[in-house]
Amino acid sequence: MKFFPISQSVFCLYADIDGFPELFEGIWTIKKSGVSLNCFMVKGEKTALIDLTSDWADASKQIISALTSSGLSLKSIDFLILNHLEPDHTGFLREFRRENPKCEIISTAKGINLLKSFYSISEGVRAVKDGDTLDLGGNHILSFFETPNVHWPETMITWDAASGILFSCDAFGSFGKLNGRVFDDEFTEAEHAAFETESLRYYANIISSFSLFVEKALEKLKPLDIKCVAPSHGIVWRKNPRVIIDRYAKYASYAKAGEKRITVVWGSMYGNTKAGLDAVIRGIEQEGVPYAIHRVPDEDISYVLADAYKNAGLVIAMPTYEYAMFPPMAYVIDLFRRKHIFNKTVLRIGSFGWVGGAKKEYEAAIIPLKWNSLESYEWAGFPVEADLSLLEERGRELARKVLNL
Ligand code: FEO
Repeated sequence: MKFFPISQSVFCLYADIDGFPELFEGIWTIKKSGVSLNCFMVKGEKTALIDLTSDWADASKQIISALTSSGLSLKSIDFLILNHLEPDHTGFLREFRRENPKCEIISTAKGINLLKSFYSISEGVRAVKDGDTLDLGGNHILSFFETPNVHWPETMITWDAASGILFSCDAFGSFGKLNGRVFDDEFTEAEHAAFETESLRYYANIISSFSLFVEKALEKLKPLDIKCVAPSHGIVWRKNPRVIIDRYAKYASYAKAGEKRITVVWGSMYGNTKAGLDAVIRGIEQEGVPYAIHRVPDEDISYVLADAYKNAGLVIAMPTYEYAMFPPMAYVIDLFRRKHIFNKTVLRIGSFGWVGGAKKEYEAAIIPLKWNSLESYEWAGFPVEADLSLLEERGRELARKVLNL
C-alpha cells in the first residue's frame, strides 16, 4: 500500500493485487491484469478514510505500513466511510475495528445492514442518505450521493466540494495494477490503451447488468464541478476526469446499441463447425466489418463477455452435443442472459452428427435476450460446397445488417 497526495489534505493509498486471488468476485480472471484496491484519506480537523481494503494477500498490511510511514496509524482515523460493502473493500474491517473501536463507520442504511450480516458490527455506525453531509472541519464537508445498483443496492458515492474530488468506489474503476503510479497524467499512451481495455472488461463483467442505474447516477452527478475522479480500483483521474466519466457513459450506452463490430464466439468438437465458421468469417471480411473471435471453452469468459457487450453483432457457432447445445456455449448463453447482453444482431450456425438438438435448446434460451436473429443454419457432418456458399452469404448479410444499424 502506498500513500499519494491528491491535495495537501487528501491522499490516496493503494495496494496492487497481483497473483492472488486469480479471480475477481470468484469468477472474472485478473491473473494477467491484476487489480488495485484504492482507499482515500481526507484530513480536516477530523480524519476520514474512504473505503477500506480486502484481506487478500498482504493488502491490509500495506495500508498499515503506509499509515505508519506517514506517522499515522489505524487509530488516527475518526470516520470510516464505506461507499460499498463488497469484501474487496471491507475484508479488512474486522481487524480495523479491533484496532480502532472508536472510529464511526458511515454508509447507507442498506450498507449498515450488511455491516451487521457480514461483520456483526452494529455499534458506532451511522446511516446516511442522499444529500447528507459530514463536516470534518478544515473546509472539508463531505456529501453523500446514493447510487443504488452501481453495482449493488447499498452503493453510494462521496463528494468533497472543497477539493472537487469524487470518491466513486467501483464506479469509474478498472482492472489493472497501478505499478507505483496512481494519476492519469503519470501513464503513457500505451498504458492508457491497456487500461481502457481493462476498464471495459471490468465494466462488462461487473457493472453491465446495471447500465440503466449507471445512467441515472451519471445524471445525478452532472451538477458537480468534478476536478478529480477517485475510484477504488484503477487510475485516479486528476488531469482529465471527463475521460473516465465519458467512457462510462459510452459503456452504459452499449446496453442499447453496441459498436459496428462483430463478436464471434465458437466451439467445435472435431472441426466441422469450425469449417462452416470459416466461411461465415470470409463473408464478414468481404464487407469489411471488424470482428473479435473467441473460442470456448479455451478463452476465458471474462474476455468473451467484454467483446459481446461492446459489439453490436454476434456470431454463435457450436455443434449439437448430446441432443442439446455444446455445453461450454450453453454456459456462455446463460451468462449473456444474466449479464443483459441484449439488443444484438445475431447469426447462429453449427454442425450436428447423428441428430440435431442445439437449435431447439438455443432458441428457448435466447428468448429473454431480445436479439435480432438472422435465420440460423445447421448442417450434418462436414459442410459441403453448398453449405459453405450459403454460410459465406450469411456472414455478408450479418455484416451488412451491423453496418446499417
Ligand atoms: Fe470493488 Fe463491488 O467491489
